[in-house]
Amino acid sequence: MNEQQRSAAVVRQFQIDGELSSIAAYGSGHINDTYCAVFHSSGLAARYIVQRINTAIFKHPAALMENIQRVTSHLAAKLSGEPDRARRVLTMIPARDGRAFHVDVEGGLWRVYRFIEGARAYDAVESAQQAFQAARVFGEFQKMLVDLPAPRLHDTIPNFHSTPRRFATFEQAVTADGSNRAVDARAEIEFAFARQAMVSVLLEANLPERITHNDTKFNNVLLDDATGAGLCVIDLDTVMPGLALYDFGDMVRTATSAAMEDERDLSRMTMQFPMFEALLRGYLSSAGSFLTKEEKAHLAIAGKLIAFEQGIRFLTDYLAGDAYYKVHRNGQNLDRCRTQFKLVVSIEQQEERMNGLISELVDG
Ligand SMILES: Nc1ncnc2c1ncn2[C@@H]1O[C@H](COP(=O)(O)OP(=O)(O)O)[C@@H](O)[C@H]1O
Ligand SMILES: [Mg+2]
Repeated sequence: MNEQQRSAAVVRQFQIDGELSSIAAYGSGHINDTYCAVFHSSGLAARYIVQRINTAIFKHPAALMENIQRVTSHLAAKLSGEPDRARRVLTMIPARDGRAFHVDVEGGLWRVYRFIEGARAYDAVESAQQAFQAARVFGEFQKMLVDLPAPRLHDTIPNFHSTPRRFATFEQAVTADGSNRAVDARAEIEFAFARQAMVSVLLEANLPERITHNDTKFNNVLLDDATGAGLCVIDLDTVMPGLALYDFGDMVRTATSAAMEDERDLSRMTMQFPMFEALLRGYLSSAGSFLTKEEKAHLAIAGKLIAFEQGIRFLTDYLAGDAYYKVHRNGQNLDRCRTQFKLVVSIEQQEERMNGLISELVDG
């Protein structure tokens, strides 16, 4: 059975009326296998997103699905009566046995969402306006989840953003130097140690636990084709308890520079202030109403910290012989580390200005 036949057999196990007319690979996600299925019923066509969950990365898929189910139901309830409600939240289609997911004969775990029509995800931010829209919907997402009833969501990836732990793992990799690469990464190792004090800055800031998305890349939000407005947050696999600033920091890390993560011309890797401004304005336009004073005061440092953390992770993996992040050429993880550290420097250089803008927007 090939992949297509397999996915076709799977989608029939979900509560969808009508005849399956086609199913094909879809989108450019890197984590899960995503398909789009078309069903026909009484002359009408309806599309669905069919995904096999990457269980190599997500070790607790049942807990993950429970988190998504609770989050999407809460969001749907919050949006009831609002215009365009059905396109502003993911809607899960249950399996025929009533469960949220289906396990196929090979042990693969699958889920199905209603397809959100007339919108799309973009791999790269093309304008400040888009950055504003993405940050606004991610902020709105956090805001609508502030009052999710107990119990606490599952920690599906424990210590996901525990920067001190990431740093400890990095230190071990330097000591072990298992691939004899420390010599090539001397400058980066020194850079990391020189900034070690940064790792606990958010953890010591007395910030409240929130429900966070944890993968706030630009291609995890759908923008409306007709208006360009941010419509819906997708890719909820990493939704769990965390700090609001992890999400904002990762937006700054991934959306303020035009360079690729492994760009070798480091002059291209800079934090573009207009992009930061757009993210900040967009995020505060929705999240501004619930964030505490302390959270707002750390908005500038959040991007720097997340870039630093990601740089350390790439450096650790480089030292460990590329065990986690796939490489297509020698030194790619070291190049990835360098772009992140360059971003840290670029943020350091602009931090005063960033904080100035934050004060202006927060204090009026
Ligand atoms: N409900 C949906 N409606 C329309 N398109 C979707 C929907 N869910 C996902 N997509 C598309 O599929 C792509 C991959 O989905 P995503 O959940 O982000 O997977 P991954 O974890 O692999 O990144 C997205 O970038 C988007 O283009
Ligand atoms: Mg995605």
